[in-house]
Amino acid sequence: MPQVNNWQIGRNMQYVHEDARPERQIGFVFDINRCIGCQTCTMACRSTWTFSKGQEYMWWNNVETKPYGGYPQNWDVKLLSMLGPQAWDEAEYKGQTVFEDEQGRLRDSPLGYLPTQEEWRFPNIYEDTATGYSSEGVSLPEHRNFFFYLQRICNHCTYPACLAACPRNAIHKREEDGIVLLDQHRCRGYRHCMAACPYKKTMYNSSSRITEKCIACFPRVEDETCTRCTAACVGSIRLQGWINPPEQADPENPIDYLVHTRKVALPLYPQFGTEPNVYYIPPRWVPKKFLSQMFGPGVEQAVASRSQPDAQLLAVMKLFGTTTEIITRFEANEDHVLGRNEQGEVVVKVPIQEPFYERPFRDVEADAYRFNEA
Ligand code: SF4
Ligand code: SF4
Ligand code: SF4
Ligand code: F3S
Repeated sequence: MPQVNNWQIGRNMQYVHEDARPERQIGFVFDINRCIGCQTCTMACRSTWTFSKGQEYMWWNNVETKPYGGYPQNWDVKLLSMLGPQAWDEAEYKGQTVFEDEQGRLRDSPLGYLPTQEEWRFPNIYEDTATGYSSEGVSLPEHRNFFFYLQRICNHCTYPACLAACPRNAIHKREEDGIVLLDQHRCRGYRHCMAACPYKKTMYNSSSRITEKCIACFPRVEDETCTRCTAACVGSIRLQGWINPPEQADPENPIDYLVHTRKVALPLYPQFGTEPNVYYIPPRWVPKKFLSQMFGPGVEQAVASRSQPDAQLLAVMKLFGTTTEIITRFEANEDHVLGRNEQGEVVVKVPIQEPFYERPFRDVEADAYRFNEA
């Protein structure tokens, strides 16, 4: 019975395969605070990968409105209620993962369920629906009435449940980048992967009768270019790169810096046990109790750091959405932050403080006056 180490739950756990981390692991940080729910990312993925017959209801990237929205509907609430008590002892998770039974033994197949066809109908059902309404209005730091956008792609998990569940061995994790791919020639449409993926990110094509999933835009990644959903993001909420396990964290790698050094970006539902590789900076206006169930015990620290970023954190936050090249290292000083690619070349230089220009009311050159419309 293989025991593997899952640092996100602070303990070893049962998994069907031996621990075999890839040479390097693709990773993302999404800053929820910046997302405007425009779905440009969703359409960028759609127009690149899922515009064919049988893919009409297939959204590899979707942005859903929490707490009520979900694609498929109620995906997280359903699994959370199946999982039983989910207690943490500081950073150590005491409950079951999807791989373990109540006695801590490896399950025959990961805990999960197969969504109905109806549940896949809406990529953002209950769009912009808040938990309540107050005629008094709301104000920071925390709202009792809230909603927020959750941006979702496949997590290219370190311990993928989809891979664990497939009897055809049709799913594999690439050694060179940790991207999880589904071999459509091997797949026979059994859908055990769909039942097993806690994030419901494998999807059935009823036309071809095989299953498909987010491919992390691997042809672009091989070219050191960010994925379509990352590159297209209007709100500059996404940063793509490479993530190391905590004991090998490199503080000059921006993803490691945000996840390990500053602990400002957290995994989504770490208690599921797959060690997902998309990390979220939690929204600062949402009750912490709700966020803790979603992102684990590091929420207080993450929100506090994000709310009052120091100079170095602010510098790294400036790198989001600035280039379509994958940034592997950064350097920051008082004036600017540099992002470097794999070869060490500077691919982006961002000023820390934007210059402020005040334009005079009277423009002498143009012989005109300027008016402020407000
Ligand atoms: Fe597999 Fe789901 Fe993890 Fe993606 S998110 S690797 S589909 S278990
Ligand atoms: Fe789609 Fe690529 Fe984003 Fe995956 S990484 S959701 S394939 S655009
Ligand atoms: Fe949010 Fe960016 Fe997607 Fe717009 S493009 S919904 S800002 S993640
Ligand atoms: Fe395997 Fe999923 Fe296909 S279980 S056979 S990859 S539908």
